[in-house]
Amino acid sequence: LSGDLERARGLIREVPDFPEPGVLFRDISPVLADAEAFRAVVYGMVRQAPEFDLVLGVEARGFLLGAAVAYACGTGVVGVRKPGKLPAVAHRVDYTLEYGTATLELPEDTVRPGQRVLVVDDVLATGGTVLATCELARRAGAEVVGVAVALELSALGGRERLSDLPLQVVFTA
Ligand code: PRP
Ligand code: HPA
Repeated sequence: LSGDLERARGLIREVPDFPEPGVLFRDISPVLADAEAFRAVVYGMVRQAPEFDLVLGVEARGFLLGAAVAYACGTGVVGVRKPGKLPAVAHRVDYTLEYGTATLELPEDTVRPGQRVLVVDDVLATGGTVLATCELARRAGAEVVGVAVALELSALGGRERLSDLPLQVVFTA
């Protein structure tokens, strides 16, 4: 790891029993707040990514990383949202989280058929969020060419659920 990436790893905050007892929550907010760590993580996420035309970033920390990745690579970005936020919903998917269930929505007039999409989030845990986002992209007629996350929680099996989709991770815990 480069010095900046090593420092970035040390900035990931571990919070026991959040949002529920028994969950060790990893918060990357301090990483994003540090200029060098933020840049190192963003470039680490795209270093080996396949070519893509559009980034889908997942609410909420996936917005920050997704926008940075898109800007760094010269593509557009779409915010995939929790329910009830969007004025015009193109597609909606329900899915299961490490702690509970959730719904994600894709805004209208964003993803075009045939576009090559990179899905970006902060953490890959069970993979439910990323898989739901991939499903949203496919329903819009796009091709999901890869997934990029800052941190993979390997014990939760997300990688296995993504099967053969190219996955770029910067840190593993
Ligand atoms: C977290 C995280 C990922 C997702 C990963 O989001 O930011 O989006 O969970 O979990 P999974 O792989 O098991 O689906 P959270 O639901 O806490 O929402 P937030 O970013 O709005 O806080
Ligand atoms: N951090 C952030 N998001 C998450 C986590 C975590 O530890 N677990 C499931 N989603």
